[in-house]
Amino acid sequence: MKEVRHIYPVFDQLVSRESKEWLLQQHSRVVWFTGLSGSGKTTIAKEAEKVLYEMGHTTMLLDGDNVRSGINNNLGFSHEDRRENIRRIAEASKLFLDCGIITLCCFVSPTEELRQLAKSIIGPKDFIEVYVNAPIEECERRDVKGLYAKARKGEIADFTGISAPFEAPSHPALELKTQGRKEEDCVKELLNFLLPIVRLDIAI
Ligand code: ADX
Repeated sequence: MKEVRHIYPVFDQLVSRESKEWLLQQHSRVVWFTGLSGSGKTTIAKEAEKVLYEMGHTTMLLDGDNVRSGINNNLGFSHEDRRENIRRIAEASKLFLDCGIITLCCFVSPTEELRQLAKSIIGPKDFIEVYVNAPIEECERRDVKGLYAKARKGEIADFTGISAPFEAPSHPALELKTQGRKEEDCVKELLNFLLPIVRLDIAI
């Protein structure tokens, strides 16, 4: 890690996370969706976000295509760039977490090392890993953005699942299988798992 010199972070004078959670009437967490491109991460997170909003929750949704068009628009898909992508996203998510906001992160985050990095920055208690699992054949068949076809033709290098690795998480907090299932059923499964964690009134 790079040495940080002449920098004195201040934490004790800030309004606490607990106070903000109380204001927002929720427990904040970072829900980290990992899975192949086209597996359904963002689709499920978007629908879940709508329901959470209707229930009165405050959320933030971060997704690969959006973040890579803005704050991370100088990064590509080499191992080093993916690492920096995930590092920045995890640091940004931690800021939202400390504001009491339920943060939904939708990133391929293809290796155990990258997800461990995110977990170590966010903190193991606040990092909820959700594996959105669809087989590569299914993602390629969906090919929502036409990227798999391009990757097969060699027009995109280091494409996850084709020319770059994807390691399935070994112990995700939740695994959502999306093949052959209705989107709304996956969203329900996610919310059944998540609501007891984030709701102040029934939280464990
Ligand atoms: S990550 O590997 O660094 O976590 P991230 O989630 O930010 O990836 O971005 C993945 C999105 O970028 C995919 O959904 C896809 O739309 C697009 N993309 C473009 N090139 C690639 C590539 N080489 N590998 C994976 N996704 C790519």
